[in-house]
Amino acid sequence: MDRIKIIGGNQLNGVIPISGAKNAALPLMIASLMTDDTLTLENVPHLADVEQLIRILGNHGVDYSVNGRREHQDNGYSRTIHFTARNIVDTTAPYELVSKMRASFWVIGPLLARMGEANVSLPGGCAIGTRPVDLLLECLIALGAEIDIDNGYAKARAPNGLIGAEYTFPKVSVGATHVMLMAAALAKGETIIHNAAREPEVVNLADCLNAMGAKISGAGNSTITIQGVTNLTGARVRVIPDRIETGTYAMAVAMTGGDVLLKGAQEELLSSALDTLRQTGAEITSTPEGIRVVRNGNGIKPVDITTEPFPGFPTDLQAQFMGLMTKAQGTSKITETIFENRFMHVQELARLGAKISLSGQTATVEGVERLKGAPVMATDLRASASLVIAGLAAEGETIINRVYHLDRGFEHLEEKLSRCGAQIERISG
Ligand code: EPZ
Repeated sequence: MDRIKIIGGNQLNGVIPISGAKNAALPLMIASLMTDDTLTLENVPHLADVEQLIRILGNHGVDYSVNGRREHQDNGYSRTIHFTARNIVDTTAPYELVSKMRASFWVIGPLLARMGEANVSLPGGCAIGTRPVDLLLECLIALGAEIDIDNGYAKARAPNGLIGAEYTFPKVSVGATHVMLMAAALAKGETIIHNAAREPEVVNLADCLNAMGAKISGAGNSTITIQGVTNLTGARVRVIPDRIETGTYAMAVAMTGGDVLLKGAQEELLSSALDTLRQTGAEITSTPEGIRVVRNGNGIKPVDITTEPFPGFPTDLQAQFMGLMTKAQGTSKITETIFENRFMHVQELARLGAKISLSGQTATVEGVERLKGAPVMATDLRASASLVIAGLAAEGETIINRVYHLDRGFEHLEEKLSRCGAQIERISG
């Protein structure tokens, strides 16, 4: 198993190209199931989760071809991939595949809308919480689907097609909003979704579906209206820049000090997190090329945060922000409201000398002057990134084990950081 070795203490200076967003690429790829034409996606990041979803889509009959492997080399190495679901050969998504990646459950929406049936394994829990799928099923039931849970599978049927409806989500869910958008795009009549997720990835999906011929308005607001159409066509769509990768590197610079241009990053995708970083003392400016992050001289000021659905502070940056706060000049409180068990990084950060106490959903972080390198364990994708941030500022050597978590969501992380002066390398095997 690969490990990452970091010798902390260097500032970061230079340019980091921001890749296409994993969490936007995944639903766009799933949308390819909705047409027998070719959906071409530009700026798809080269990540383990993307490769896994390609395998899952292949099981349903989606062919793909990659070109431009080197096309965007100065912009994050991302690729252009053509997806074609000429024939759906299987409407079952088996446990062996779905259990490896939760987002693959979302195929239930397109399969049901296009084929009138879908048998999708329930994804089960994961390290950050129980993460049920009740909302994803309820929104489909609202559109007229019949769903039975049998033997660990959601068996969904809509033999006469889905029918538009007005539906209010009891809780904001990104995945359920994706699923309902895709299903309603091919339902008969009008669907109105209230309390929809407003994340930029939802907007990217709605734009993609509209480019394919869907009639969706309001994405990015909490109410979205969809006029169903009978079929969708191919399209060419670009994956938005990764706001979580952007925020992660911005926090790394805030931690180490230095001056880095996050090339291709867009401020409006993560205003709340960038405003928080400004309060910690980092200078952040948007330029036509991207976002420039500078921190010189002054220490890191403590700031309290609470995670919220977009446009609030994202849960996917909570661990990284905690990494930064471990060296703040004072105490900060970090409250997680989205997932019930997203604090596994606390124990690992403590191994580097961080002082953090947990009470319910709130972590109190007492900033320390010095962190010291140590062997640590990556426990999930974003938690791993917090260990990288802390490791970059720790004295001596930090070894991060179980790097496969990082490979799920960060494209060429060690290369991007080492080009800016970090001492970081992958140790294979
Ligand atoms: C997406 O997960 C992201 N994943 C997550 O990123 C992200 O943390 C999350 O949204 C919140 O922003 C992808 O986009 C692939 P939710 P998703 O449905 O859609 C509860 C990462 O690190 N809920 O918005 O699965 C749920 O348990 C990942 O890249 C229900 O109760 O998240 C959670 O408490 C991790 N019932 C809350 O809603 C349901 O049916 C929000 O989850 C569905 C969700």
